[in-house]
Amino acid sequence: MTKAATPQTAEFREGSGQLLFPPGFLWGAATAAYQIEGAANIDGRKPSIWDTFSHTPGKVLGGDSGDVACDHYHRYREDVGLMAELGLKSYRFSVSWPRVQPDGSGGANQAGLDFYRRLVDELLAQGIEPWLTLYHWDLPQPLEDAGGWPARDTAARFADYAELVHGALGDRVRYWTTLNEPWCSSFLGYGSGVHAPGITDGADSVRAAHHLMLGHGLAVQAMRAARPDHDFGVTLNLYAVSPETDSAVDVDAARRIDGLANRIFLDPILLGRYPQDVVADLQPVTDLAHVREGDLDVIATPLNMLGINYYSRHVVSGAPAPDAADEPSCWPGSERIRFVTRGLPVTDMGWEVDAPGLVEVLRRVNDEYPEVPIYITENGSAYVDDVVNDKVDDPDRLAYFDAHLRACHEAISHGVPVRGYFAWSLMDNFEWAWGYSKRFGMIHIDYDTQLRIPKSSARWYADVIRRNGLAAQ
Ligand code: FCB
Repeated sequence: MTKAATPQTAEFREGSGQLLFPPGFLWGAATAAYQIEGAANIDGRKPSIWDTFSHTPGKVLGGDSGDVACDHYHRYREDVGLMAELGLKSYRFSVSWPRVQPDGSGGANQAGLDFYRRLVDELLAQGIEPWLTLYHWDLPQPLEDAGGWPARDTAARFADYAELVHGALGDRVRYWTTLNEPWCSSFLGYGSGVHAPGITDGADSVRAAHHLMLGHGLAVQAMRAARPDHDFGVTLNLYAVSPETDSAVDVDAARRIDGLANRIFLDPILLGRYPQDVVADLQPVTDLAHVREGDLDVIATPLNMLGINYYSRHVVSGAPAPDAADEPSCWPGSERIRFVTRGLPVTDMGWEVDAPGLVEVLRRVNDEYPEVPIYITENGSAYVDDVVNDKVDDPDRLAYFDAHLRACHEAISHGVPVRGYFAWSLMDNFEWAWGYSKRFGMIHIDYDTQLRIPKSSARWYADVIRRNGLAAQ
């Protein structure tokens, strides 16, 4: 398929000494409900799998939970004020399913929906485009008790929930993301078990991936029927994947990991089929008998946009580690592949900083799949921060953003239709199994006082937004 080059303006091409982005580029920041809201037991909200998981001893570092988090439920007005100070054009947030439909089925909890109405109205009043994610991992616990994502019915429940939220907020929200990172929901939630609900079953993880995608397709169909003018999409966490060496075993390991990390979602959603090599790799784990006729047509319901979350690259070796044997794995059928590091600088997560990998991912998606507008819906880094005289200077985080924005610019100059960028994250928050020990925010949170301090990366980002670009190097 030949790709039309993205229309570039003279301003973008000539740059006037700066690296300018196309006019209308959507500059934003992202968060997720369970990571920031707190108010876990208020106004009718009931537990999600993350409440259960974080209250299970040993699952989350330090015994942390999202019970209070950044108390955003009560402080959203202040937080939207900070977004306005940064000049954000858009804010990506997620809706907590157990807040708005506490049992995962049946009627809406109006008090929960009211919170999102207030939040969205505040955003609109400040001229900030709301970008709503329906599922950022907080499945209502009753649905997990009924089988969770490995059960087909959960897909139908998700579509009902999507319709319910869309019915309530569709008059004021135009951008709708169904799922955030179904890879994590499936393979960390049901494979390695390091995320909620903490199940370790390879076949379940593959079933979960399928039902998440089915739920996505059903939800887009239901919402689009009501509002064909809205923009619907899904967010995938994509990785650049490389073999450690050019040996045949390493190259095959890279093919397998690319299959399980990227193509197992990209191919069904954008091409309407599972990649045959991945289906073959999965044979020892599952025969995919849960895939029913017609499912792939639903899963491939056309998208208005694709969200990509990018953090790092996987470098892999097919020469297995001697002790890699029987740990629960998030790589079903490919459990013994070894992940290696190359000695590049790492973030506080231990993830190597690899901005060229983002160019690779963006060009690959655009070259190998039908063209769809792309938004970077998350990109960012955790570093240890020090508060000195009420200020936080975070040069490493700033450099990470800078390098990855240059990568986006490079991809755009190659014709990839990247239409926006959401920094992860607006503020420090509950980093899942790592609790509050990892700080990804542009705004520092003091969890004792709930004081917010914009870091130097936030000031820098405000300047990038104001100029619609970066200073040329
Ligand atoms: C992504 C998640 C997000 C956050 C970042 C660091 O996988 O979508 O919630 O945890 O990683």
